[in-house]
Amino acid sequence: MDTATHPAALVVGASGAIGGAVTDALASDERYSKVIAVSRSEPVLPRHNVTWLRTDHREESLARLAGELGTLDIDLQRVVITTGVLHGATFKPEKTLEQLDADAMHHVFHVNAVVPALWLKALTPLLKRASQCVLAVTSARVGSIGDNRLGGWYSYRGSKAALNMVLQSAAIEYRRRAPRAKLLAFHPGTTDSDLSRPFQRNVAQGKLFSPAFVARSLLSVMDTMEPDGKLAFVDYRGDPVPW
Ligand SMILES: NC(=O)c1ccc[n+]([C@@H]2O[C@H](COP(=O)([O-])OP(=O)(O)OC[C@H]3O[C@@H](n4cnc5c(N)ncnc54)[C@H](OP(=O)(O)O)[C@@H]3O)[C@@H](O)[C@H]2O)c1
Repeated sequence: MDTATHPAALVVGASGAIGGAVTDALASDERYSKVIAVSRSEPVLPRHNVTWLRTDHREESLARLAGELGTLDIDLQRVVITTGVLHGATFKPEKTLEQLDADAMHHVFHVNAVVPALWLKALTPLLKRASQCVLAVTSARVGSIGDNRLGGWYSYRGSKAALNMVLQSAAIEYRRRAPRAKLLAFHPGTTDSDLSRPFQRNVAQGKLFSPAFVARSLLSVMDTMEPDGKLAFVDYRGDPVPW
């Protein structure tokens, strides 16, 4: 194992509500001397210990970016991947099969499942050399097959279920190739963000969380995790979510 000296954390999707709050929380945590924030956008509120990197999440860009990270003297101990999309200017969650649109489905599956998978691919060399790393990807309870009693939301539900399966296969592979890494599929609960805004009306009182609360919850849950070669699917309380 290399002897990298700077404990570091990486946040992918750092301009988002949850990604931004996680970046802030990690930047205030003295255990990490460096926080790397990755986004499609320009940096928000620069902080001295946050290095902001932009990407388009294409495979070759991620390979280059991971290569650059590999030259830094960092020990990657926390990774949080928060990319996700539920609706856009031209699409929204489907209520019926007739509303399915192939382009919209491809886009949602790409952002929610393919992009995190490409990040796992790019980060594998860094995870192999980390002293111990907990890597969380924002999933969602609606991606649970066992929990799906309402139906609908085909693309979002399907893409989060696909994400969970990608993470499960990666956890099995990491058991052998990066045994000091622990993978986590995280359900944040309904969180106040652009993603949830059109769907907040029916949220029970006290159940619409601030991104800061979710970031604290996620990082606390991550602190309880030990590498055991398994994928955990847990919510903001650390409680397991059914597959
Ligand atoms: N809010 C909720 O109630 C809720 C509930 C369950 C699960 N989640 C999950 O939590 C995660 C964060 O969501 P949020 O609530 O913070 O929403 P948000 O503020 O809309 O953030 C969306 C995130 O997705 C990234 N993103 C969006 N479009 C992308 C694209 N085309 N390519 C790559 N990245 C893209 C953004 O990264 P940039 O930095 O590049 O903009 C940002 O990090 C998502 O995975 C979401 O599915 C949220």
